[in-house]
Amino acid sequence: MLNSKIIGVGHYVPERVITNHDLEQWMDTSDEWIRERTGIITRHWVKEGDTVSGLGLEAAKKALDHAGLKAEDIDFIIFASMASDHDFPGAGCFLQEKMGLPGVPSMDIRNACTGFIYALSTADKFIKTGTYKNILVVGAEIQSTGLDLSTRGRDMAVLFGDGAGAVVVTATEEKDKGILTTHLHADGRFAKKLWCEWPSVTHHPRITKEMCETDRIYPKMEGRFVFKYAVTYFPQVVQEALEATGYSVEDIDLFIPHQANQRITEAVAQRLGLPWEKVVSNIHKYGNTTAASIPIAMSEAFQEGRIKDGDLVCLAAFGAGFTWGSVLMRW
Ligand code: ACO
Repeated sequence: MLNSKIIGVGHYVPERVITNHDLEQWMDTSDEWIRERTGIITRHWVKEGDTVSGLGLEAAKKALDHAGLKAEDIDFIIFASMASDHDFPGAGCFLQEKMGLPGVPSMDIRNACTGFIYALSTADKFIKTGTYKNILVVGAEIQSTGLDLSTRGRDMAVLFGDGAGAVVVTATEEKDKGILTTHLHADGRFAKKLWCEWPSVTHHPRITKEMCETDRIYPKMEGRFVFKYAVTYFPQVVQEALEATGYSVEDIDLFIPHQANQRITEAVAQRLGLPWEKVVSNIHKYGNTTAASIPIAMSEAFQEGRIKDGDLVCLAAFGAGFTWGSVLMRW
């Protein structure tokens, strides 16, 4: 029986740093409000001409270097993102072209903040069935170009950042290493609690000049509603992974949650009874980078020496859909 394990991890964020004070110039907000409610101090935003596949490429190069592999060793690409470089096709094909891998399959996963967990889980199954040997899993996002930077959109605009993270997942015969279990969920009854309504195929044409003058082309969220479900489902899906493998919270060496909001991460750690030193949080630097947040946090944790050989590492996410999920692995 084959197992799957991560052998390379890398991340990339654009150079342009946007502080809370920068946001104060465009909308009625304050550094104090943003820090207190979200924990965010800075985020990185792309410049004109940058692409989601381009961010993904930079992260992928680092993950490949870390794995000691070349692009040609990759036999499947899974790209988690809500965005693509253009309306279609998905960013995975643009990345595959940049990597020079014609013919190698490339799949897009559009599950917002839980996208990377869905992607990693998919990679795990393709490896365990013996279909592919080395899978590149990318989480990359450009949010900044779709935000309402006026006071009208301040509740969402202050939260999000751009960036990318990538991992190389490979087949191994080691029994006690790698991905132990994955758990995925969705509940479409809450799709409109965190969403972007327009452009929409229900309109003929799907986007008009008049539509662009409304706020319905920007992402919307019922913040308190999302908070309530996030702090319930995050711990639940971690417990599900622990129950499936016979471990307990005390066995977790490192918890890497989707970086939604510092207050959500703190509430989840508290509900789980996880000491803060076992939790990875970098939202103060990058904001919420949706599908990219877990691989960025994992890559940084690895660079900082916080992930060691043999550690039990738990990943979990919650986001639009609603979707939520977890991955438990032995590093
Ligand atoms: N700056 C200043 N004031 C603001 C801002 C801002 N950026 N945004 C909203 N406000 C104002 C509101 O207009 C409101 O003013 P009012 O009282 O005069 O009407 C006041 O602040 C309070 O607004 P609320 O929306 O009630 O603020 P809340 O305390 O709920 O905090 C927040 C908002 C941070 C979004 C919170 O609801 C939250 O933490 N939600 C969790 C969801 C989340 O963070 N999601 C991340 C993305 S989804 C994901 O990754 C899972």
